[in-house]
Amino acid sequence: MLRRALLSVSSNTKIKNLAVRVPVTREVVSRYVAGETGDEAVAATRRLTAAGLYVSLDHLGEDTTEITQADAVTDAYIDVLGKLAEAGLSKQSEVSVKLSAVGQFLGADGRRIALDNARMICIAAKTAGTAVTLDMEDHTTTDSTLAILSELRSEFPSTGAVIQAYLHRSEADCRDLATAGSRVRLCKGAYNEPASVAFTDEGDVDKAYVRCLKILMQGDGYPMVATHDPRLVPIAQDLAKRAGRAQDSFEFQMLYGIRPTEQQRLANAGHRVRVYVPYGQDWYGYLVRRMAERPANLTLFLRSLAGRR
Ligand code: FDA
Repeated sequence: MLRRALLSVSSNTKIKNLAVRVPVTREVVSRYVAGETGDEAVAATRRLTAAGLYVSLDHLGEDTTEITQADAVTDAYIDVLGKLAEAGLSKQSEVSVKLSAVGQFLGADGRRIALDNARMICIAAKTAGTAVTLDMEDHTTTDSTLAILSELRSEFPSTGAVIQAYLHRSEADCRDLATAGSRVRLCKGAYNEPASVAFTDEGDVDKAYVRCLKILMQGDGYPMVATHDPRLVPIAQDLAKRAGRAQDSFEFQMLYGIRPTEQQRLANAGHRVRVYVPYGQDWYGYLVRRMAERPANLTLFLRSLAGRR
């Protein structure tokens, strides 16, 4: 209930405008967000990779309504990819891109604009010696995102996909995507979806996650196991072992600031662990989704909104 209520305020512009104007302490935002600038994102990448972790950088922003904003996000990605290459960090890092941030919702031309912008980011990633993963947003965008992914992959085969286990369609999508060279991130799903398209019971989502993971591990692609769930991590290790996978034929992924000790433990045990590192000023939607996953975080957030810390 609380999760749904929180997710529904994530798209409420009035609440957003109020929340972003309140001086929220850096403590709350900085737990989940690595900084505001590309330089801060590169500094975080340097710290994490020095500890043996890999990184996916996410320039915060979504649901872009102006073409100038879509262009600015595209430029920010191109800029940070150049900075990663200059710093010699491209081998251990990639970028994650939300198509809605680069123009997917800009009217009748939205799909073409998002594809053109994503293509420019893929070119910059290729030049830097790395790759792009397309984040997945709410279910109304799944078909369009997978279609754009397929076009990008014809030119840039290493472009990564994201599948959300909570969607009823996802086992079939995993089957389609479990092919040689295909990088697929499997997550539970973070949006407020109706029961007509998604499992809404947590136990059902977990079971669906395992079914999807089984398909990916048994397939020919490169599974990216994106979860902090302490029950799913050993299940993933077991499924990989049963499928005869070497440790470098799949990876774990977790979000910046969530279970950092577990991230390090898995890396020390020889797994490839990639940390998803958001940066930028447009942190509101991302932060509300993180609050919805762990309502205990909300107390800290509300206290800081009330100016008590
Ligand atoms: P679950 O939510 O059950 O959490 C398991 C445990 O992890 C909790 O008990 C707690 O210990 C810890 N935990 C989880 N969230 C926490 C939080 N916010 N604060 C503190 N502790 C927390 N979604 C999407 O729809 N599209 C996408 O493209 C992506 N991309 C993506 C990339 C990566 C690398 C990750 C890890 C996740 C995503 N997600 C996503 C988000 C994903 O769908 C999901 O909402 C979160 O990962 C939380 O689900 P868990 O699998 O961690 O399980």
